[in-house]
Amino acid sequence: MGSVKPVNINSLTIIGGGNMGAAFAQGLLAAGLAPSALCIVEIGESRRTVLKQMFQGVEVVATLTKCESAVLAVKPPDAAASARDAVGAGARTLLSIAAGVSLATLQAAAGNGVAVIRAMPNTPSLVGQGAAAYALGQFCNAHSAEFAEGVLGSVGLAVQVDETQLDAVTGLTGSGPAYLFLVAEALIDAGVAHGLEPAMAEALVRQLFLGTGTLLAGSNESPARLREMVTSPGGTTAAGLAVLHETAIREAFMAAVAAATRRSGELGRAGAG
Ligand SMILES: NC(=O)c1ccc[n+]([C@@H]2O[C@H](COP(=O)([O-])OP(=O)(O)OC[C@H]3O[C@@H](n4cnc5c(N)ncnc54)[C@H](OP(=O)(O)O)[C@@H]3O)[C@@H](O)[C@H]2O)c1
Repeated sequence: MGSVKPVNINSLTIIGGGNMGAAFAQGLLAAGLAPSALCIVEIGESRRTVLKQMFQGVEVVATLTKCESAVLAVKPPDAAASARDAVGAGARTLLSIAAGVSLATLQAAAGNGVAVIRAMPNTPSLVGQGAAAYALGQFCNAHSAEFAEGVLGSVGLAVQVDETQLDAVTGLTGSGPAYLFLVAEALIDAGVAHGLEPAMAEALVRQLFLGTGTLLAGSNESPARLREMVTSPGGTTAAGLAVLHETAIREAFMAAVAAATRRSGELGRAGAG
């Protein structure tokens, strides 16, 4: 788990107790939110049973009756209806993580005066190491940003952006875990091609990612400087990197993020988000 940040939230409802909803519940409780201050609304009966076992002392209900602030962690097509339900139950602050659903759509559902926040987290939130960005709606105030930082910061890093930048965040860190999983797959294949047992190659690469990620996160040096520090002139790493440069790997990542960013915009527009 990542470093746990203190939360300053009196009472919170998470609507949708799926993967992300449960990740936020776990992060918020670890960050000091009292179980009695948290409520999870989940329509699936069997999932409610699981959530009750996971989060002792947290109210887990099928329908929302009373609510001050809510995290909308349902699938995108259900986000607007959840916003309406939450406001109907008294919510004045809403944070949606529904991919592609715009602030305009959420605000129209919530009504004027409700503070609406649109966020884009990523899958490592499930292990408390997410990288999320959020954009504030027109009725937000200083407390809204604090609320967003409290919720998103409980499962990783949270940065504030303009809504127009959320497609780029989606293309970079939303889709980013899959890019890095692909790199891991390719490295395992390469290790096996050079005589390592598949299980051993996989164990080594998993640890390579953990170790390198930990070094990168904990260092004040730039990634470029860290790379230079492990690259002796004429050595093995220099030989490998020279091939990566020849295969235009930087250009490949540039094109991948561009395509994912573009697709995020298309999906948002297609859903009238
Ligand atoms: N997973 C990620 O890494 C990621 C990253 C960025 C954004 N997001 C966004 O996060 C949201 C949730 O994703 P997820 O992976 O956690 O999905 P998920 O596991 O399907 O969770 C959604 C849960 O909400 C329940 N639900 C649906 N409508 C509801 C309602 N009106 N009231 C209460 N509960 C309701 C669903 O029940 P049923 O299954 O019975 O419908 C399901 O258990 C999505 O909008 C997605 O775009 C996810």
